Amino acid sequence: MPDRLTIRRPDDWHLHLRDGAALKAVLPYTAHQFGRAIVMPNLSPPITTAVAAQAYRARIIAALPANADFTPLMTAYLTDDSDADALAAGFADGAFVAAKLYPAHATTNSAAGVTDIRNIDAVLERMAEIGMPLLIHGEVTDHRVDIFDREAVFIDTILLPLMSRLPTLRIVFEHATTEHAVTCVREGGANIAATITPHHLLLNRNAMFQGGIQPHHYCLPIVKRERHRLALLESATSGDPHFFLGTDSAPHAVSAKETVCGCAGIFNAPSAIENYAEIFDAAGALDRLEAFASINGPRFYGLPVNAGSLTLERAPSVVPALVKLDDRDAIRPFRAGETLGWSIVEEDLS
Ligand code: NCD
Ligand code: ZN
Repeated sequence: MPDRLTIRRPDDWHLHLRDGAALKAVLPYTAHQFGRAIVMPNLSPPITTAVAAQAYRARIIAALPANADFTPLMTAYLTDDSDADALAAGFADGAFVAAKLYPAHATTNSAAGVTDIRNIDAVLERMAEIGMPLLIHGEVTDHRVDIFDREAVFIDTILLPLMSRLPTLRIVFEHATTEHAVTCVREGGANIAATITPHHLLLNRNAMFQGGIQPHHYCLPIVKRERHRLALLESATSGDPHFFLGTDSAPHAVSAKETVCGCAGIFNAPSAIENYAEIFDAAGALDRLEAFASINGPRFYGLPVNAGSLTLERAPSVVPALVKLDDRDAIRPFRAGETLGWSIVEEDLS
């Protein structure tokens, strides 16, 4: 096994950057590792228009550290009222690179999401025509469905029928968490792909209850059984172009996580690529990290791979214990305070 690995500069194809003080606190970690990121639109209020996306992009650029080389790729938040013409115009002029489907009430800031996918038939037809990718939070929201089954039920009742109705629609099944999802994506042809997070590759559902309730291991879709983690691991490290890196880094203040009704989301940005390197190394698949992190994503989105590179070394790196948010609050990273086996040693931004 090599002790040093140089890959094309990677990208993060699923990221929550938030806004204001949180944006300023979390953005440097992503900009340090990644050339680009697909920025999720679930702010409050959500990013539903091209004007709002352009203004958000400008706030992200303004919050970048000096000398950073990072391009935010903006997304539109779909609602029952989304308008096909407005969305297509935003895609044509580069305000959006994709649109995100949040089933209403599936997750953080999704109350304005889509209440029934058939309400946006016209929008989805237009997206298929113009080649605009649809990014899906794939969980049903019916509370009678067990939380651990919501992804599989979404695939059977919503995703597969959508893929038959609109076979040319380009779909990214975000943060895949089940065997069912990876099978559907692997067998789904060239128009579907999936992102996989570091935490879903590392944790199974026991991690939420290890020695007591662990709010920092709570995210949506919720982590699943070991069998599913192994299926994700196999897919991510297989080199299959259907699968690529998306951290779903989702920062929430410690006060919002460690409380009576804690928020869903794991903040993994401070050590994202080091975590993936450790995972691929343990699986004996370091030679496939570049495809997953740097090649498969841009290929799916029809974008060039980054020109620069990133060099990792088998050397200890320590995850920060806390990231300061403001005078009162901080954000606790995934694996806070732990020592990981890989470090970033060089970056060529060229
Ligand atoms: C995300 C968030 O906090 O914005 N939370 C999460 O648990 N992943 C939303 C999401 O991607 O579901
Ligand atoms: Zn997310």
